[in-house]
Formats: sequence, C-alpha cells, structure tokens
Amino acid sequence: MNSDAVRFLLNNDVVTIENIDPNLTVLQYLRDERFKNGTKEGCASGDCGACTVVLAELNNDNETLNYKSINACISFVGSLHGKQLITVEHLKQGAKLHHVQQAMVDNHGSQCGFCTPGFVMSSFALHKQNSSPNRAEVLEALAGNLCRCTGYRSIIDAAMVSSEDAEDDSFAQHYQQSVKHLQDFKNLPAAQLCNAKHQYYAPKNTAELAEKLLNSPQATLVAGGTDLALMVTQNLGTIADLVYLGDVAELHTLENNADEFIIGSAVPYTTFTPMLHDEYHELGEMIERIGSRQIRNNGTLGGNIGNASPIGDMPPALIALGADITLQRGDVERKIALEDYFVGYKQTVLKDAEFIKNIYIPKAKTGQILKLYKISKRIDDDISAVLAAFFLEINDNLVTNVRIAFGGMAAIPMRAKQCEAALLNKAFNRENISAAQQALTLDFQPMSDVRASDKYRMKVAQNLLQKCYLELQNKTIETRVVNYA
Ligand SMILES: Cc1cc2nc3c(=O)[nH]c(=O)nc-3n(C[C@H](O)[C@H](O)[C@H](O)COP(=O)(O)OP(=O)(O)OC[C@H]3O[C@@H](n4cnc5c(N)ncnc54)[C@H](O)[C@@H]3O)c2cc1C
Ligand code: FES
Ligand code: FES
Repeated sequence: MNSDAVRFLLNNDVVTIENIDPNLTVLQYLRDERFKNGTKEGCASGDCGACTVVLAELNNDNETLNYKSINACISFVGSLHGKQLITVEHLKQGAKLHHVQQAMVDNHGSQCGFCTPGFVMSSFALHKQNSSPNRAEVLEALAGNLCRCTGYRSIIDAAMVSSEDAEDDSFAQHYQQSVKHLQDFKNLPAAQLCNAKHQYYAPKNTAELAEKLLNSPQATLVAGGTDLALMVTQNLGTIADLVYLGDVAELHTLENNADEFIIGSAVPYTTFTPMLHDEYHELGEMIERIGSRQIRNNGTLGGNIGNASPIGDMPPALIALGADITLQRGDVERKIALEDYFVGYKQTVLKDAEFIKNIYIPKAKTGQILKLYKISKRIDDDISAVLAAFFLEINDNLVTNVRIAFGGMAAIPMRAKQCEAALLNKAFNRENISAAQQALTLDFQPMSDVRASDKYRMKVAQNLLQKCYLELQNKTIETRVVNYA
C-alpha cells in the first residue's frame, strides 16, 4: 500500500501533517495546534455553526473550485487532504475587512460576537458560489448557524448584500495558484496519518479500500463524519483505525440513466440532490431539511444508510421507492434491496470488510407518485420524530401499486405491509384509508423517547396517511383530521 502524509492548503499556505492523532477534529487542530482561535466551539455536535469554516475543493472539471461551508467540530483532520481550508482569520483583506465582514458591521449583525465568525464563513461560502443570492438562498445557507443575542434579521440583511460589485478578494487573486496546488495534491498517493495509538488511511480507489478492509476488518469507515465524529466529540470515545471514503474515486460517481439514478455512497447530499429534484420534487425538498447546509455539504447517502439509525431520513424514502444498494467485499459485489439491509436496531447485513458502494433509485413510471412527510420540532436542522413515505400508483381510482415505509416507528426503517395490504387493489377512498390507518397499529408498536411519545407517533403516522390521501384528492385540510386521545 503506497501512502503519504496529509497535505492541504491552510488559507494560502501548503501544510503537511503526519504524526498527529487522526481522531483530532479540524476545530481542535485549528485551535490547539495552530492557535487559530477565531473559529469557535459552541456545541461540538454540528448543531450551532459557531465552528463553520470553508473548504475549497476541485470540481469534476479539475480546473474550478467548489467552496463549501462545513462544521469543523465534526470533521476529522485527515479529511482536509487535497483541499483548501479557509478560516475566518484569513478573510481580512490587508487593512480592510472582507466585504461579508463589512456587511455584518454595516447591518449591526453582531452583539457578543461568539456566533459571528460562523455566520461570516457561511455567508462567505454562499457569496463565493452565488454573487447575488436571494432571500431563500440566504436562509438556506444560514440555517445551520445559531445566534443567541443579535436576532436574525440584521444577520440575514448582511448576508443578502450582493458581492457582485465587490473587489476581488485575496482568494480570487490566488485562484489559479490554489487550483494548481490542489491539482498537485490530487496526484499524490493515498494519504495516511498516525500516532502511537490511532491511524487513518484515505484510499484512492475501491481496490485499495477493499484490500485495506480485508487486512483490517475491524477498521471504521468514515465518509462525511457527521454521524461518526459525534462518537468522539460527544461520547468521548476514540477510533483506532479510521478509513476515509472521501477520496475513493468510484464512490463519487453519479449516473442519471433512463430507468434509475445511481449514486456513489460517498457523494455528499449537496452534490447529488439537484439531480433528484425534477424526478422526485418532494424528495429534493426533504433532503434540504436534513441537518443544515454544513451537514449536507459533508454528509453522504452511504453514511445515512451505514449508520442504520431508525430515524435516518433517507432509508424510509428510498425503501418506498424500491431502491437497491450494492455491497462490495474484496472484489465481490452483491446487490440487495435496501429494505433487506436493516435487520435490527443498528444492525445490518453488512459483513466484515464489506462496504456500501452504490445506491440505485428507480425512476417513477407514469402514474406513480411519491409523497413524503418529515415530522420534527423545527423545520431546519432537526432530526425526525417520524418520517412517512408513500409511493402509490392509482389507476381509475384503484390502487394498483403501493409501498409505504416509515422512520421513527420501529427499531429499523420499515415498510408498513399490513397498511399496504389494506390499500392494494382497493378503491382509493376514505373508507379504505380508514382501514389502512387502523392497519398501521398491526405494523408498528412505536416507542416513546425525547422526540415523541408512542401515542403521538402512531397518531401522526395515521394522520399523515390521511393527509396524503387528502392532498392526492386535492382537498384542503380545514379541520384536525384525527383527535388526539
Ligand atoms: C446536526 C446534525 C443534524 C443532522 N440531521 C439529520 C437529519 O435531519 N436527518 C438525517 O437522516 N440525519 C441527520 N444527521 C445525521 C447525519 O448527518 C446523516 O446520517 C449523514 O447522512 C451521515 O453521513 P456521513 O457521510 O456523515 O456518515 P459518517 O458519519 O461518515 O458515517 C456514518 C456511519 O456509516 C458508516 N458508513 C459510512 N459510509 C459507509 C459506506 N460506504 N459503507 C458502509 N458503512 C458506511 C460509518 O462507518 C458510520 O458508522 C444529522 C447529524 C448532525 C450532526
Ligand atoms: S461547535 Fe457547534 S456546530 Fe460545531
Ligand atoms: S452575537 Fe451573540 S450569539 Fe450571536
């Protein structure tokens, strides 16, 4: 196995790191090793945005850069390999503030200032990608940043300020030089990091990945790290042998053919979501409610499935759509239905040394409809209490095909087969919907936890079926559909 140190640009300087604990987060690296304390720690769990930094990475054309905001607190330091890390300290342009910083001053967007670097970096990433964002785009870009004192209006006003007329900043001036560095990094062999106890390896292709896993089946895979890093930052655990999937070329492919979408397991949400929007509008909208922009810039579909959480949002939606996944071990691949992947709470059919390679999402045929409902306490950046996914085909008011799946109702994301049976080959009418609502009590015995009680979960699942029916009937819901007991 050929491997090398981790190399990246810290602002405009080339940095090489080797003997450093790979369990270190980018935030700890910046604050403790580089003494760059402008990036703040609020929650250390991806929730507040105080630690937001910006990564620039090469686009597929290998010539242009994609700037994205990420949460430094839940990104492992090794994942910086081959990228440019931009921190708040570097925004200032000589003696002048950067125009996104100046806009915060001009719009009175800061009081205690603790959240300010994070907001500034989210705004910087947005303006690098879009010089005149509209209000919806600003809200989406800032939804992962919390402020306790200023109030959001002035911060939003600041981020709305167009950068169209702004002078080139130092990043624009050094653009070609940055591209050249990142191109050079791309030609380096697989990166690795280690200290006395922990190691980190970033294979560049599936052959290297498969070999590493066969030799070290106990190794832990990390893609975006937005689930896994919490094991270190919240549970105070350590991970002995990390294998990073972000550099594995074959796990980064996207295919849009006549019958299906094929998504590489390590492609981040913000990269693959635009491809799905036209076919499954509600799926695109639901994905935009997964975490925040920072989470979706790093988080992947493979990680969402691999985590096997009963409240992960993608599995129920994809099970309803009849998605398949491929799993690879050594050079052997197998394809299974996603619904067969989950076997118990956080348990899956994944074997030692196996990894998720691709996700296959069938396209809808004429007359097929997907309806999705995410129930959480907040619209943005919140985990579901219940996620309902209804996939229906209705011909002459007869249900000719139905797949219904829920998250948050059982130990695994699961189909509601009794409910489906109550609808299949029956008229799509209120009476049969009532029977199907009843059948949900045979499918699930949900649990109570901090997000919702068992009773609430069942009621809301039943109500969502009725909401789906009414929406498909094009009726307005004017009254509460089912009374809470
Ligand atoms: C603040 C916050 C908000 C969030 N909001 C949501 C939300 O609204 N909805 C939601 O569903 N999730 C949410 N999440 C959870 C998380 O962001 C998603 O599950 C995300 O898709 C995980 O992807 P990742 O690439 O970061 O996974 P990682 O953290 O890298 O990995 C997660 C798990 O999957 C395994 N894994 C990763 N890739 C593979 C692979 N190719 N093959 C086999 N195993 C693999 C890893 O070993 C690990 O056990 C949130 C997380 C945070 C911190
Ligand atoms: S410190 Fe709160 S999101 Fe990172
Ligand atoms: S200015 Fe104090 S938290 Fe935002």
